[in-house]
Amino acid sequence: MSDQTHETEHSPKTGGHSVDPQLTDDPMQEASLHVEKWEGIWIRVSVGMTVVFIAAITLAALSFGISVPGATARINPATLNDPGSPFATPGLRELAPGKYEAYMVAQTWNFLPDKLEVPVGAEVTFYITARDVVHGIKIAGTNVNMMALPGQVSTLRATFDTPGTYNYICHEYCGYVAGAPIGHHTMYGQITVLPADETAQVTTE
Ligand code: CUA
Repeated sequence: MSDQTHETEHSPKTGGHSVDPQLTDDPMQEASLHVEKWEGIWIRVSVGMTVVFIAAITLAALSFGISVPGATARINPATLNDPGSPFATPGLRELAPGKYEAYMVAQTWNFLPDKLEVPVGAEVTFYITARDVVHGIKIAGTNVNMMALPGQVSTLRATFDTPGTYNYICHEYCGYVAGAPIGHHTMYGQITVLPADETAQVTTE
């Protein structure tokens, strides 16, 4: 490097010989970055992984509809049952043929509602908030996976193209409330997606 003793020891340059760039007199060569073989390989691997991660996120967002839940609104948890609050009567509402909104409340230890029925092809926008502590909701087999927070309304949209049952669970440990038994594991519900020939009997709760 710029060590004076090194420079004087090793000058003048050995003509024709390959010289360790750290020991050469040439200021240009001295400034060039020396990268070890394995270091270079790992740098390429790290860059390659970053590219793969970005591609995976882009693919998830564009092809599978996976997105970050939006915080659409703030709400005072104490007012959830107030007249006019959509959370006072949680459940499914049909906005247009095949389009629904579902208002849900997460509380210790259940979901309101804990059962939903929609026809196949239904597009449901979920709005969820928590009444007391931090909860979460994951609807298996869909892109819905979000926190349910007191004071915030979180939202995600899912389309149910395949008939069947879709379980949802609280995935945020909400076990302990002073003096009460633990019930995080009892916090679940189920969405039933009815096949086309049964959709006439759909009831919205
Ligand atoms: Cu609610 Cu865990």
